[in-house]
Amino acid sequence: TTLSEKDKNIVKTFWAKVAGREEQIGCDAVSRMLTVYPQTKTYFSHWKDLSPGSDPVRKHGGIVMAAVTDAVSKTDDLTGALLSLSELHAFTLRVDPANFKVLSHNLLVVLSTTFSNDFTPEVHVAIDKFLTAVALALSEKYR
Ligand code: HEM
Repeated sequence: TTLSEKDKNIVKTFWAKVAGREEQIGCDAVSRMLTVYPQTKTYFSHWKDLSPGSDPVRKHGGIVMAAVTDAVSKTDDLTGALLSLSELHAFTLRVDPANFKVLSHNLLVVLSTTFSNDFTPEVHVAIDKFLTAVALALSEKYR
């Protein structure tokens, strides 16, 4: 699933459409994750409200998407770019790394439905590879 130069360019071009809508997209992706994979709710039990679109879900969606947007600008070294976040999730938050694939999948679904016209098979494969690489980079510190 290595990203080719072509994939990287497709991801960057597609992500320009995401600009300014990060919080909504992140909110939708986290909402969907918590609904479809309720076991993920255990990590956020300290939030006041875990229901879809709640304030903490929206805020966290924005935070996660800011990190993903940052990663889009660092596709040549995702492992380095995400190393400190990997460390945080591994040792402080103790998130099961299987969940990175779960959130990546939910984000892929939200992007495909939000940008249905732009979500060509070519975009689909490039974004899928990118999000898989992000999930792998976040898993780095678990090894
Ligand atoms: C916090 C990114 C996946 C659980 C965070 C933060 C970022 C982030 C940027 C804030 C870090 C800080 O405060 O310095 C990401 C990215 C992910 C991802 C880019 C994958 C694409 C997950 C998954 C889970 C998770 C799958 C669990 C199912 C948490 C928790 C926090 C957190 C519990 C602390 C939230 C809080 O206390 O409000 N994440 N994350 N993350 N993440 Fe992730």
